[in-house]
Amino acid sequence: MEEVELPKVSARFDAAATTQISQPVRVREVKREGFKRLLTGLPEFDRLLGGGIVTGSLILLGGDPGVGKSTLMLQIAQALAQQGLIVLYVCGEESVEQTSLRAERVQASSENLYLLSETLYSHIKQHVDRLNPDILIVDSIQIVYKSELSGAPGSVSQVREMATEFMHLSKRNGISTFLIGHVTKSGEIAGPRVLEHIVDTVLDFEGDRQHGYRIVRSVKNRFGPTDDIVLFQMNRGGLSEVSNPSIIFLEERTNEVAGSVILPTLEGSRALLVEIQALVSASAFATSSRRATGVNANRLALLLAVLEKRVGYQLHRFDVFVSVAGGLKINEPASDLAVVLAISSSFANKPIDSQTVVFGEVGLGGEVRGIIRLESRIKEAIHMGFNRCILPKKCLKGISQELQKKISLIGVDFVEEAIEVALK
Ligand code: TYD
Ligand code: MG
Repeated sequence: MEEVELPKVSARFDAAATTQISQPVRVREVKREGFKRLLTGLPEFDRLLGGGIVTGSLILLGGDPGVGKSTLMLQIAQALAQQGLIVLYVCGEESVEQTSLRAERVQASSENLYLLSETLYSHIKQHVDRLNPDILIVDSIQIVYKSELSGAPGSVSQVREMATEFMHLSKRNGISTFLIGHVTKSGEIAGPRVLEHIVDTVLDFEGDRQHGYRIVRSVKNRFGPTDDIVLFQMNRGGLSEVSNPSIIFLEERTNEVAGSVILPTLEGSRALLVEIQALVSASAFATSSRRATGVNANRLALLLAVLEKRVGYQLHRFDVFVSVAGGLKINEPASDLAVVLAISSSFANKPIDSQTVVFGEVGLGGEVRGIIRLESRIKEAIHMGFNRCILPKKCLKGISQELQKKISLIGVDFVEEAIEVALK
C-alpha cells in the first residue's frame, strides 16, 4: 500500500478554465493540418509507429534496465537531429558525460542534439521553453520529479503527474515526446503500466541480454498498428534493425536432429520462422518433470495429455523439455502442432525432415484445428526455402493456387496423422 497525496489545484487547471471554451465541430469539418509525421531513418521502426513519429505525440518506451532503451533513443535522436530538427535529450539517469560516451558509440554528434542532465521538472520545463525543441526525450520518467509533490521520484503519484505534465507540454508546443520507463520486476507498480492511458503510443522493449537481439513491440498506438514488432540487434555500434528476422532465429539450427521442428509464427503483422525444440528423456525420479521455455507451461501439459490419451505415448515416465530456440516467447495456439511433433520426434528419436514447417492448433480430442493468417506464414516458409508444410486440413481450401505450386502442403485432421506424416 502506498499513500498518494493529490497535488493542490495546479496552475494547469486554472489556465484551462480561463482560456476559451472549445466548441463542437462537425467531424468532416475538422482541420487536420499540423498532423505531420517525422521519419526516424529506421524504416522498420517507422512502420511500427504507423509511418513515422506524429508531431506532438507522446510515446512511452518501456523495458527492463539494460535492454537498450537509451541506446535506441539516442540513435533516433541523432537521425532526427540530422534532419535539422532540434532534439533535447534529458538524461536524468546518467551524467551528460556518460550519455555523450554512449552517443559517441552510436555516432550521435549532430549539432542539433542537446543533452540536459536534470531531474527537476520545473528546470526541464524552463529549458524546453527556451530551446523550443521539436523532439523531447525524457530518460527516464521515473527519475524526474516535481518538488511540490511529497512522493519520492518514481512513486505512482510522481510518475503519473510527470507524465501528465509532459503530455500538456508536448500537446501545447507540438513537441514529439518520448518517455522512457523502466518496467519493474512485476511490470506494474510505478512502471510504465500506470501511464498507458495517458500516452498516445506504448512501445515495449523486450529481449534478454544473453541474446543479441531485441524486440520492440507496439502495445498501444493511437496512430498506427498494435501488436506489431521490430527486431533489432545490439552491436558494438548500437542497435541495427533486422529486416529478415527468420534468418536470425534459424541461424544456429542443425539439420536432421530429433526433436526439432520449424514453426512459422506470427508476431503482429509479420511472420517469422522459429525452431521449437523438445527433449524427452527417461525420468530418474518418481515424478517426471516438464519444463517449458518460450511456450506456455499449461499448454504443454495439455498437449502431453493429448499425446498420452490419443496417441498412446507413455510419457508419464519421461521428463519433457520444450524450448523455443533463440529465446523468443510464443503465445499463439498455432504452435501446438509444432510442439506436439517436436515431442513425438524426440520420443521416437526420429528427426523430422529439415525442409518442413508445421503449424496448427491442437484440440483436446486430438484434432488439428484451423488457424488464422496462414498465407503470410506459408509465404515466409517459401521465402526461407522450405518445401513442405504440415497444416490443418481445413486450411487447405483458403490457399491460392499460386502458393500451392511453390510448396507441398499436407493437410491433417488429427495429431496421429500429423505424427505419421512427419516421422515417416
Ligand atoms: P542502455 O541503452 O544503457 O540500456 P537501458 O537504457 O535500456 O538501460 O544499453 C544496454 C546495453 O547495451 C549495455 O549493457 C551496453 C550495451 N551496448 C552495446 O552492446 N552496444 C552499444 O553500442 C551500446 C551503446 C550499448
Ligand atoms: Mg538507460
